[in-house]
Amino acid sequence: MVFTRKRKRKFLNSDRKNPGHDLMETAVDVKNVPTHVAIIMDGNGRWAKQRLMNRVRGHEQGAKTVREIVTVCREIGVQYLTLYAFSTENWQRSPAEVSALMHLLKKFLVSERDLMMKNQIRLNAIGQIGRLPEDVQSELAHTMDMTRENSAMVLNLALSYGSRAELTRMVKRIAAKVRDGSIDVDAVSEDMISDHLYTRLIPDPDLLIRTSGEMRISNFLLWQIAYSELFITQTLWPDFTRDEFLQIIRNYQLRDRRFGRV
Ligand code: FPP
Repeated sequence: MVFTRKRKRKFLNSDRKNPGHDLMETAVDVKNVPTHVAIIMDGNGRWAKQRLMNRVRGHEQGAKTVREIVTVCREIGVQYLTLYAFSTENWQRSPAEVSALMHLLKKFLVSERDLMMKNQIRLNAIGQIGRLPEDVQSELAHTMDMTRENSAMVLNLALSYGSRAELTRMVKRIAAKVRDGSIDVDAVSEDMISDHLYTRLIPDPDLLIRTSGEMRISNFLLWQIAYSELFITQTLWPDFTRDEFLQIIRNYQLRDRRFGRV
């Protein structure tokens, strides 16, 4: 469903007229929705193991959750959603799992194009995109090109992404500019560093969510999350729902973000 501002307010307030409507949805303050939500989608393997299924089934179910969360983000007005879909470390998984994940990603890019166009969602990707199989790269390029004018939300997929690799690339790029004299070493600033990351056109995340209960960052957006609010849920990614997402947004809205000030 596409929401205009007016329609969104009506939707979020609709429990007064419709008592059966989910209360958590009504509690979301549309004026304080995080601009950028980043998610570490974890627990697909455990979800499958609990059901004595192959890990790939967990990833397939996880792809359905991606669709649901993209949709709810668009509905409430999140402007950037970054999903950690494949890390630089994930290349070390079995060739069968890597290949299944690549296949799933390609399938997602094709099947969700209509949804992205209908909902004005622009696709972006961060990471070592050149390491992805050629067919995935080409579907990615096609979808990014097709959605480039969409302006309601950016779906940012972290693919073959690792924050340390991103920071190393940034240091090399800035060092090369210092060496060739195009910038002075004293001009190096926090803004310049941000400007040399994959995320250079994207504001830092306001909220970082991790599913499946692990209390770690796993090499994700290390520079960008300096002041992000963190939320870790025990729920495994394939079981994560729009209702729980909305509860987390509500929790975020109750927090006092001080950015180091009093
Ligand atoms: C972590 O769970 C998840 C991944 C490594 C892959 C995430 C991929 C998807 C959600 C599906 C495809 C993505 C898109 C964008 C269509 P895990 O395998 O590490 O789980 P475990 O820790 O329980 O083993």
